[in-house]
Amino acid sequence: MPISQNTETDFSLILNKVLNRRQLLIGCGAVGGMRLALAPGAQAINEIPSEKVLDFEAVPTNLLDTVTVPRGHSWHIVASWGDPLWSHGERFDEQTRGSAQSQKLAFGDNNDGMELFVSDSRTILAINNEYLNLPIMYGNRVSKMPETSADVQKGQAAIGITIMEVSLLNGNWSVTKDSPLNRRITAQTPMKLTGPAAQTNLTITSLDQNGDFPLGTLNNCGSGRTPWNTYLSCEENFNLFFASSDREYNLSTEFRRYGIRTTDRGYSWYRHDERFDIAKHPNEINRFGYIVEVDPLDPSSIPRKHSALGRFKHENAAITVNKDNRIVVYMGDDERGEFLYRFVSDAVFHPDADNSKILESGSLYVAKFENNERGKWLELTPESTGMSSQADICVHTRKAGSLVGATTMDRPEWIAIHPHDNTIYCCLTNNKNRGRKTNSGGDETPVNGANPRPNNIYGHIIKWRPDEDDHTDSNFTWDIFALAGNPYVHSGPNAGSPNIDPTNVFNSPDGLAFDSRGRLWIQTDGNYSNDGDFVEMGNNQMLVANTNTGEIKRFLVGPKECEVTGITWSIDRKTMFVGIQHPGERGHSHFPGGKQSVPRSSIIAVTRDDGKMIG
Ligand code: FEO
Ligand code: CA
Ligand code: CA
Repeated sequence: MPISQNTETDFSLILNKVLNRRQLLIGCGAVGGMRLALAPGAQAINEIPSEKVLDFEAVPTNLLDTVTVPRGHSWHIVASWGDPLWSHGERFDEQTRGSAQSQKLAFGDNNDGMELFVSDSRTILAINNEYLNLPIMYGNRVSKMPETSADVQKGQAAIGITIMEVSLLNGNWSVTKDSPLNRRITAQTPMKLTGPAAQTNLTITSLDQNGDFPLGTLNNCGSGRTPWNTYLSCEENFNLFFASSDREYNLSTEFRRYGIRTTDRGYSWYRHDERFDIAKHPNEINRFGYIVEVDPLDPSSIPRKHSALGRFKHENAAITVNKDNRIVVYMGDDERGEFLYRFVSDAVFHPDADNSKILESGSLYVAKFENNERGKWLELTPESTGMSSQADICVHTRKAGSLVGATTMDRPEWIAIHPHDNTIYCCLTNNKNRGRKTNSGGDETPVNGANPRPNNIYGHIIKWRPDEDDHTDSNFTWDIFALAGNPYVHSGPNAGSPNIDPTNVFNSPDGLAFDSRGRLWIQTDGNYSNDGDFVEMGNNQMLVANTNTGEIKRFLVGPKECEVTGITWSIDRKTMFVGIQHPGERGHSHFPGGKQSVPRSSIIAVTRDDGKMIG
């Protein structure tokens, strides 16, 4: 697709600016809004000499089938897919890889976003279980796919959310079996749908005449946590679980926008659970694609899907208390050429009040990035979009974004808000279609300032700061924090920004989180071929950045064919919990068991050998 002349000039200037400077800072003067409390004894990075902020020896890339951390650090497994949460659950069986029954009592597959909660000295991890590694989960079947209704039930029990208490004994964290707080939330757990989409003709089904009582949650990707201590779980690629028994079924434009197809993707759910057959229950799919709020400290609570935050392929939820005490949530839609969103609550947060309904009503906005490093939030209303109702907008949110002219992005993954100022960071993981193909709604995706490279194979990290440090302001200033690249292979833009060098190469930034000191942790889900454009990049990894200087250093390398995703810290900040997802997704890992064992997604705990804080 040709690039228009006037924007070429503008974004070329921006790209040159990014490539030619050393400091990547919007400004760190005035601060406001919510601050993350520093752990007792921790120092914010502004108070530390910059050479001490990343106080470890960088880990070189590697292709090992294990986790590598810097000298002076150690790691151990906390839980792996299939580990029972209750003593009457069965130990993971390498031959059968579990049953529907054992899986209902066990840690789910493909752990992703996670958050840590503390109650009465109990430590609780809430962890997403995103999707299924079909050939691994069903490795006991000839087809390596689900073949029976029981197989489908096993899969439905392996996704969703795991809530589990963990305890530290002799330096090792492990699951506290039979804790009253242990819980599995699956594709069959009853939920409540709130907000504009609830109880409408878009969400009523023959099984739920009210249209506000969906069953289950799907493809739970990144996470978030509210200031009132609930867990946010974000439904991403929900379309993968649906198919049609009628191959001639006429897919609407709205269905196509979300990648819904008539053909099965291997899950076979529509064959054994007719809710997932779009020919029989076309509205069922409108009940997925939301942010789900769960109270991890109340196992009997009903999870709620908040339609006011929009329906799209939600990555994570970065939440802050604005200076006027309204709640603001930043959210990305992870697909090529899709958008960034913001929710601003109607109600204000008060620490002593019942805040449970705050995410049920508010205003939804989509981002437009101008090429002059300024941007705007465009509100999505029937008036601004021409759509029929707020319910329509909250179900067909992508369409609403297109109608107001939002900026197509290079696959927004996690968003993180700096704990000590109001700068927001977002991973744009990669986009081979940039400059070549429209998004699924037909929006053109020309190269622009915020997405400055055609065929963006390495990804980048963008940041923005609201005017007046007010997260409800319509305007913001943006900049690029890092352009990932490979200086072993390229010069120019594909070598990356100046903070990328041969010691810290990576591709496809995905997970993103600040620690209490204000260091930015970056997790990757990229090409691990170690070949061609990706030579010297090794397995997927985790790095940490000093956002004051732009310096980025590699902290961890994951095992073969994994993604590193999900990060949180113990309350004393002496343990960092990290997720290792889908090791051996192409059949070449035995992590964590070694020898010939079945590879299993796992949570690891990382500590410093000197016992000091790690974040
Ligand atoms: Fe589930 Fe966009 O990662
Ligand atoms: Ca991700
Ligand atoms: Ca991913």
